[in-house]
Amino acid sequence: MNGGLMGRLKLEALGKSLELVREQDGRFALHYVDQRLLPKRFERVSTREWRRVVDAVKTLAVRGAPAIGVAGAAALALWCQDGEGSIEDAAHEIASARPTAVNLSWAVKKAVEAVSGVDHVSRADCLFDLVKQMETEDELTNRAIGANGAELLEPGTRVLTHCNAGSLATVFYGTALGIVYAAFEQGKVERVFADETRPVDQGARLTAWELAQAGVPVTLICDDMAATVMAQGLVDAVVVGADRIARNGDVANKIGTYGLAVLAHEHGIPFYVAAPSSTLDAAISDGSHIVIEQRDSAEVAEPIKGVDVYNPAFDVTPAHYITRIITERGVFRPGELEFPSE
Ligand code: MRU
Repeated sequence: MNGGLMGRLKLEALGKSLELVREQDGRFALHYVDQRLLPKRFERVSTREWRRVVDAVKTLAVRGAPAIGVAGAAALALWCQDGEGSIEDAAHEIASARPTAVNLSWAVKKAVEAVSGVDHVSRADCLFDLVKQMETEDELTNRAIGANGAELLEPGTRVLTHCNAGSLATVFYGTALGIVYAAFEQGKVERVFADETRPVDQGARLTAWELAQAGVPVTLICDDMAATVMAQGLVDAVVVGADRIARNGDVANKIGTYGLAVLAHEHGIPFYVAAPSSTLDAAISDGSHIVIEQRDSAEVAEPIKGVDVYNPAFDVTPAHYITRIITERGVFRPGELEFPSE
């Protein structure tokens, strides 16, 4: 490790990746960055249609576990504003948009509970307030994760990360990248290696772009180069996010995370997982119970006659490969995690 680069972080210009906004007529709309267009275009979409939000989550226009949680609660708020039918059906449709990140079902459940017993006329306003609270808490949580995780890094650290667990994946600031940002401001981060993250390229399209916007030195690598950069001694720590963490500390995250953890273990590199407590699933004992989302084969390749495609969007990293899990509550050995109700 060389000396640290004292960083001036330029993240504020990015703004929130999603936000529920009350408009001039008193009704509200969800504003979100359409992440499918990045890095070519930075475009915010505004919608009052709850099913359009569900579609944005399914198609990865809005993605990242904490961001889809807030989007899910916002979708239910929009349903309360205009939707028809039963709230249970709407909540089920929203929560089923993506199965692996527990943050989505967690946030939708919270929203349903918040309006139980509330009269129909007041439900939309009640959920508007809840979503605004979730937005505020998201940033505070991420900044706490950042501060806790930065303690683990030495000056001059070269970090390798996977997928995008940055500001774009949350309302603001990010989880894994929250640690990078906090440590960068303390002069501890020399460089970040961003894995491309096939098949949807969140690392290449989102993380590399986001870090460059923030002013953090970043080098983009293909997924199959991680072993080489580790073997060359270019990586001091791996820091990734999470979509669901089981009681024993097994972690579901973007496909490819497990391989990186094995590589980090082989090379004696610490492997850190950053996540808010809303990503902890106290209901499951270990990672074998985590439902892995299977996505369309078109994400992997154009159809080729006679060729089948397998496209699991996430994998499970066994707890024994994980050095520490960092939440807003502190730094934990996997298996010794503090769950919210405890
Ligand atoms: O399919 P995605 O892009 O939603 O997957 C995102 C990830 O796997 C992230 O690492 C995870 O959600 C943590 S985001 C703070």
